[in-house]
Amino acid sequence: MADDDFGSELKEMNIEDKEKDDAEDVVDPWNVTSSSAKGVDYDKLIIRFGCTKIDHELLDRIENLTGKPVHHFLRRGLFFAHRELKMVLDMYEKGKPFYLYTGRGPSSQAMHVGHLIPFIMTKWLQDTFDVPLVIQITDDEKFLWKDLTLDEARRLANENIKDIIAMGFDPEKTFIFSDFQHMGRSEAFYRTVVKTQKLVTFNQVKGIFGFNDSDSIGKIAFPAVQATPAFSCSFPEIFNNRKDVPCLIPCAIDQDPYFRMTRDVAPRMGVLKPSTMYSVFFPALQGSQSKMSASDPNSSIFLTDTNTQIKNKINKYAFSGGGATIEEHKANGGNCDVDVSFQYLRFFLDDDERLEQIRKDYSSGELLTGYLKKDLIGILQKIISEQQKRRAEVTDETVELFTTPRKLKYDY
Ligand code: TRP
Repeated sequence: MADDDFGSELKEMNIEDKEKDDAEDVVDPWNVTSSSAKGVDYDKLIIRFGCTKIDHELLDRIENLTGKPVHHFLRRGLFFAHRELKMVLDMYEKGKPFYLYTGRGPSSQAMHVGHLIPFIMTKWLQDTFDVPLVIQITDDEKFLWKDLTLDEARRLANENIKDIIAMGFDPEKTFIFSDFQHMGRSEAFYRTVVKTQKLVTFNQVKGIFGFNDSDSIGKIAFPAVQATPAFSCSFPEIFNNRKDVPCLIPCAIDQDPYFRMTRDVAPRMGVLKPSTMYSVFFPALQGSQSKMSASDPNSSIFLTDTNTQIKNKINKYAFSGGGATIEEHKANGGNCDVDVSFQYLRFFLDDDERLEQIRKDYSSGELLTGYLKKDLIGILQKIISEQQKRRAEVTDETVELFTTPRKLKYDY
């Protein structure tokens, strides 16, 4: 019965429990849907997944350690859950800094604003803690899951790498790699992949990811590839062959199954379990029942959208929590919990006081949806045009710089 002898991380949830537990919310690395207009019930999800809420005490601790106010994503609970964040903070406090790892599956050419969220958080963490960062672009994953050719997946990886670089990462502190490119050139990386594969059974990935007998063996083996960057021994160039550098992974909570598996194999590989921190999903324009999807152009604001497109999409599609008529709205007020423009402002308007004023005035019925939309349009137009300006400056040489395996500015 060795196959059923799951480690502690894996006992926390498997697919069958998930189906029994909550028929409404579906959250896994490939699907996120909820039947509630407020979106996924994150408190329930924390319990189901067995992770921990990010509470005030933890935020105070980060502020004390860094001497800086925490990012508004943290203040507002947009990054709301974690696994053993305390461990990396303890080590950091003792002068043993961690590294950051995040990633992106390149399923489309154009990234949308929802894709920026984990990278904005990651950049803040990198700037605040001054630590190295590795970014995995899983072109192999998208080749296996989507209807893409190898060349197309690799091309999309490169396009996405340019978008990520344009967010302002520092080449002296950041290594970005496509799996196709890196697996073929790094023996250390592939060794960790195979070590991980040896420690996880088919039964276990069936339980964690819901794979079945008809899934390709490529899919079944892939989770080991996403686990690998969480171990410092996979990057000897950066960490000078040290296998004890702790890792922190900021990402959306749908990636938790991968890291539950990663944390389960770590002790058996004689390495540290990575810590994680998880964001909520960025809602589609149509409402919080689903997240933005790159395959539906009207559900998202893309990094390539023009000012006019941004304006038209928000005006036309952003789900309103306001009253059906002005009279009704004035009488009953708007519902911020379901209003997409308000939800987006929580992500992109960093001024707490202004946001609170908008919340009050919209809830009381004083402000109309049109006002929120106008504010949001201005903010997004600014963010996206700045991103586009930086993106235009990213050349093939810049990509080469970020994707070449090398020592970063940190000594180990
Ligand atoms: N599987 C992720 C996706 O489809 C990509 C990814 C790889 C990732 N490694 C990661 C995401 C680490 C977050 C953290 O988008």
